Amino acid sequence: MAELTTPQAGDDHDRDSDVVSLLMRQHGDIRNLFDEVEASTGDERRDAFRRLVRLLAVHETAEEEVVHPFARRGLAGGGQVVEDRLAEEKAAKETLAALDDVDTDDPKFMPQLLALRADVQEHARAEERYEFTHIRRSTDVTNLAAMAKAVRAAEAMAPTRPHPGVESGAANMTLGPVAALMDRTKDAVRRAMGKDG
Ligand SMILES: [Fe+2]
Ligand SMILES: [Fe+2]
Repeated sequence: MAELTTPQAGDDHDRDSDVVSLLMRQHGDIRNLFDEVEASTGDERRDAFRRLVRLLAVHETAEEEVVHPFARRGLAGGGQVVEDRLAEEKAAKETLAALDDVDTDDPKFMPQLLALRADVQEHARAEERYEFTHIRRSTDVTNLAAMAKAVRAAEAMAPTRPHPGVESGAANMTLGPVAALMDRTKDAVRRAMGKDG
């Protein structure tokens, strides 16, 4: 199998100081992780899938905490734009929860993964088109950077690359339930934005 490498936080410092570029880069990381899951088997697939789930959980939580509230307040028609995005995120989370119970080697896994991928990609495109481009036009670099800082705090909880040598042991245990990861991500984002709890 060809070696697939996934861009990681910090690979491109400049882009990461603008929340829109940062989130679009994460959309690319998510796409690459789907590729990685599809192209691998056995333990490698299991590990890639865990990283994908983790990044999806952290990415969506950061959006819900940082950019959706901004879009709701700051964009014309923002309330409806955000409602539509939240409905898509809810659908994707339900597909994800169903998939989380299926072993990555199970014949049912791949069709469900492809369904999740379709949901996630459609959602990402809608965010980029109806939300992100408008956010960039309606605020300044200082605010884009402040929001980026909060999203980076979330991202620190989702390494996109495998941990050499620990795939089968400790790394698996650190994921924990997705809901708990989302809670920890929320706390990290709120700390980064300077409002605790
Ligand atoms: Fe999203
Ligand atoms: Fe997104």
